[in-house]
Amino acid sequence: MDVGQVTPEGSGDDKGVQPFVVLGVSAGIAAYKAVEVCRRLVDAGVHVAPVLTERATRFVGRATFDALGSEPTQMSVWDEASPIPHTRLGQLADLIVVAPATADLLARYAAGIADDLLTTTLVATAAPVLVCPAMHTEMWEHPSVRDNLDTLRSRGVFVVPPEDGRLAGGDVGSGRMAEPSNIVAAVLAMLEARSASTANTASTAGTAGDLTGVRVLVSAGGTREAIDPVRFITNRSSGKQGHAVAAAAVRRGAQVVLVTTSSQPRPPGAEVVDVETAEEMEQVMLARAQDADVVVMAAAVADFRPKVVVDTKLHKADGIPDLVLEATNDILAELGRRRRPGQVLVGFAAETDDVSERARAKLVAKGVDLMVANDVSAPQVGFDHDTNAVTIFGADGTVTSVPLAAKSLVADAVLDRVCPLIGGSGA
Ligand code: CTP
Repeated sequence: MDVGQVTPEGSGDDKGVQPFVVLGVSAGIAAYKAVEVCRRLVDAGVHVAPVLTERATRFVGRATFDALGSEPTQMSVWDEASPIPHTRLGQLADLIVVAPATADLLARYAAGIADDLLTTTLVATAAPVLVCPAMHTEMWEHPSVRDNLDTLRSRGVFVVPPEDGRLAGGDVGSGRMAEPSNIVAAVLAMLEARSASTANTASTAGTAGDLTGVRVLVSAGGTREAIDPVRFITNRSSGKQGHAVAAAAVRRGAQVVLVTTSSQPRPPGAEVVDVETAEEMEQVMLARAQDADVVVMAAAVADFRPKVVVDTKLHKADGIPDLVLEATNDILAELGRRRRPGQVLVGFAAETDDVSERARAKLVAKGVDLMVANDVSAPQVGFDHDTNAVTIFGADGTVTSVPLAAKSLVADAVLDRVCPLIGGSGA
């Protein structure tokens, strides 16, 4: 990803040209992964200033960051030629990323304690901050850690949540720091959003970066239900709106999984899972929703499929087949039943009549937070058009009308409604 032009090494004062990132490393075993974050950011053309806590060096040596970073590693407010290194770093930074952020570091940052160079820099900066927590599952689930993160989030700090997996000591659970590639992707997306916003070129300048670290699962396209090996039943959905939602979520910093039947261009940065039938989509969506903070069902899932799929081509000479249909499962309703606390669920309703009545009924029946309804009988709206006009119904009774606009803008309008709901108590 292009995040700017590289300037001569160590020229911190040229930060206008090269993005300047302070990489904070606190004392967790995941500090070894911060080495990879450092290297990848430098490779991407970012000026990286490593700042380690004293105890982080028990896990990884400062010489490693000296060698890989863009300037010598700093650890103390006292060991630099400049008498106020935290102010220099805080002012130069376009972004500060803390990876790993331990429970202790999060607590000190949330409390405003500035007792080493890293926490002092965090308190002394106006730059956006991204924290990447890493700790054992018991610590990650401790209410104090949750409260501190909520406090930081409420102050605008971005979070790349930890993942499930193997932890130090062989335990398995939640709390493992996000993979370096995901952290780097989040940093680059935030830098890009920031430069777009500075240049005032992006239509989404005000919203870019606000989904950093959020895991968004999107479905798109009409499912295809086979009759025989050459024929299927489908619908008019192109997948354009779902792909636009996925692309907008990537642009805003989310980690996106797109489950699609569509051959529309793949949004760069999204993980794409191709499916064809309602049944395949159901399996993937239910599995991947377990790790999602936001689920958007933009797909047009078939309600019926042939009860029997003939495994050789049906021929005219055999006569008109007697097509018997059976119902598919309602994926969105099942997602609504299974959803985790705090997970945001969004449905789409393409209607031709009684739009708001039907959409409100589906909102309740499927247990979602938001139902995005469009009247596909209106000109330039919905199926296969590049434009859409929608009304977004909220479970809280709020209604937002989005007049005819490019599907990318409609996608942003939907995500604008999603953002305040993330981590809430759910519908
Ligand atoms: N949906 C789903 N699984 C289905 C059918 C629909 O997950 N088997 C989801 C769609 O992805 C969409 C929402 O439910 O987000 C509403 O879909 P829609 O087709 O408008 O509603 P239906 O429940 O199919 O009801 P009807 O056909 O009566 O309009």
